[in-house]
Amino acid sequence: MSIAHEHLLEIRDLVKDHLAHKDEHELSSERQAFLKDRIRDSLQRENGVLIAHYYTQDAVQDLAEETGGIVSDSLEMARFGNEHPAQTLVVAGVKFMGETAKILNPEKRVLMPTLEATCSLDIGCPADEFAAYCDEHPDRKVVVYANTSAAVKARSDWVVTSSIAKDVVAHLHAQGEKVLFAPDRHLGHYVQSVTGADVLVWDGACVVHEEFKADGLRHAMEEHPGAAVLVHPESPAAVIELADRVGSTSQIIQAAREMPNREFIVATDQGIFHTMQKQVPDKELIIAPTAGHGATCYSCANCPWMAMNELESLATVFERDDNEVFVDPELGRRAMVPLQRMLDFKKNL
Ligand code: 13P
Ligand code: SF4
Repeated sequence: MSIAHEHLLEIRDLVKDHLAHKDEHELSSERQAFLKDRIRDSLQRENGVLIAHYYTQDAVQDLAEETGGIVSDSLEMARFGNEHPAQTLVVAGVKFMGETAKILNPEKRVLMPTLEATCSLDIGCPADEFAAYCDEHPDRKVVVYANTSAAVKARSDWVVTSSIAKDVVAHLHAQGEKVLFAPDRHLGHYVQSVTGADVLVWDGACVVHEEFKADGLRHAMEEHPGAAVLVHPESPAAVIELADRVGSTSQIIQAAREMPNREFIVATDQGIFHTMQKQVPDKELIIAPTAGHGATCYSCANCPWMAMNELESLATVFERDDNEVFVDPELGRRAMVPLQRMLDFKKNL
């Protein structure tokens, strides 16, 4: 077993442990209201804006919307932070999202509820090993997923998120380029299959999406014959094959709005259901199953790192000295080039 795979299994245990203790972290409604007021006040006082991902807890998503911030996918988080005039960006998500905000806005202060919130894709792609891999393949354009460290981004030609990966790789393919894609193997194989490009794929995975099961999904489709299947491309190929639409979190929500179906089976983190349900109040959203034989939960699709963005830590986000995001300026300058390339490409799409 490779070290990376052993590491992923350790992380999977962390996910299960987190799910087992999830209820212990639930706050009373009075405490929630108190913390939300405190966060609202401090955002206003400090000229800050809250930028949250769809996988964060419901109250954090609501606060972002109510205070003039945003809840969105990772591409839109980057764009919004880049264009918003606030001097402080409070990023509720995982570390790569905070780092992306800092790289794009070196003059702004970027705070996160916790810097411990990482991502299995980031962990599974150490910068030194990745650089050596790139050096072995100098004939390929290096395309990295946003879920990576600043150092990995600095070694790339393009950064992409799940909403734009297919378009960028299709663009490179049309120019006759071969691609090295990292770190998500499922997203890499997906873009390879839809674009026909020559793509060499790093062997990383998201521990949350990798758990979706095609067998279980087929069963759910039989139980809900009218449902459309919406799948995030970090899921295994056999799950993607069953999808009616494949896309980023924002694209999944957009599909639910646009498609005429009354029911949707959704293969991504369950955190998305909160904002998604508000946008399609009359439609039924069903989580795709992750359960295999002998599993203890029907679906374990909850990112343990996204869950670390708790109201308690958000309430003290301006008062602590352990939660500001810093990126080495030279590394930041190099990582900004492929990130900006992605944002410019998006504008011209
Ligand atoms: P999106 O860009 O689709 O929001 O994906 C981010 C992510 O981490 C999914 O697991
Ligand atoms: Fe990373 Fe997966 Fe969590 Fe997204 S859901 S942040 S890819 S571990």
